Amino acid sequence: MFNSKVVLITGANSGIGYETALGIAKTKATLVLVGRNAAKCEEARRQIVEQSHNDQVKVIVADLESQAAIKQFAAEFKRHYNRLDILINNAGGVFKERQTTADGFERTLGLNHFGYFLTTHYLHDILTATPESRLVNVASAAHRFVRNMNFDDLMLEKKYGEWAAYGQSKLANILFTRHLADLWQKNGIKTIANCLHPGTVRTNFGTHDFWIIRLAFHHLPFFKSAKQGAATSLHLALSPDIERKTGGYYDNCRLSKSSRAASDTAAMQSLWERSLSLTGISEFGRV
Ligand SMILES: NC(=O)c1ccc[n+]([C@@H]2O[C@H](COP(=O)([O-])OP(=O)(O)OC[C@H]3O[C@@H](n4cnc5c(N)ncnc54)[C@H](OP(=O)(O)O)[C@@H]3O)[C@@H](O)[C@H]2O)c1
Repeated sequence: MFNSKVVLITGANSGIGYETALGIAKTKATLVLVGRNAAKCEEARRQIVEQSHNDQVKVIVADLESQAAIKQFAAEFKRHYNRLDILINNAGGVFKERQTTADGFERTLGLNHFGYFLTTHYLHDILTATPESRLVNVASAAHRFVRNMNFDDLMLEKKYGEWAAYGQSKLANILFTRHLADLWQKNGIKTIANCLHPGTVRTNFGTHDFWIIRLAFHHLPFFKSAKQGAATSLHLALSPDIERKTGGYYDNCRLSKSSRAASDTAAMQSLWERSLSLTGISEFGRV
């Protein structure tokens, strides 16, 4: 059905995701943008088509804070496409007040970790069946904001801090990527999985809830542009240098050092088991 590469990216209507999608579209791949706001996604699609001269750009609308919505959008994707060469989990956020998703997860972990975990789970069959496929998870240097995953209070019911919540969710991105890369290698699955820090990038990130971020983005000159912020995502998605490299954490298009907590194999296993049990998934990838 599709001869060109098929790439799916979440959170592509603004910021790093938009510029990553534009970079991918310029390679003439077939591109699927997933976002929660139909009008914003359609406007992004229109601009990407105009700038890349690639009309093979589609939108699927889904709220990535909802397991049911992720399951539904993945099924819709699989009805239309017979391959998935690159999956880029990018949608993320930070929230000033503690909130919960419809599934009962603390919202930051719900969107930033469970959004990635569930998207990968429901697309696992098509992704791993596609030769030379890649998974790219946008993490953050903010994983260093926390010492460890707070397994005693994963949903931060006892004590909530927005940056601790964000740091924990980004630590989860790295632990999840490494665990999955390892599992795939052990099971002879050739799909590679890597994650990255995009840099400190002037986007819409945090601007709804935090006036200080709005102020900094407007007045301080040293942030990366969204285009510069997309460079490492594009490198991991497209570069031939990455072909057989898996389980890495990248910054500025180079393999980088993450915190000690992000290399803790026991934490990887615990997060994996907790994620499966909290989502009711008995076997990752089997839908
Ligand atoms: N900016 C930085 O300095 C920085 C640094 C390190 C890591 N990161 C990471 O980079 C990634 C992209 O962030 P960004 O900086 O580009 O921020 P952004 O401009 O706010 O983009 C975030 C994207 O995620 C989407 N999104 C948010 N909640 C969603 C939901 N429930 N369902 C579907 N889509 C949702 C947003 O859509 P809406 O427009 O509908 O909200 C938007 O498209 C995030 O994972 C972030 O943690 C950013």
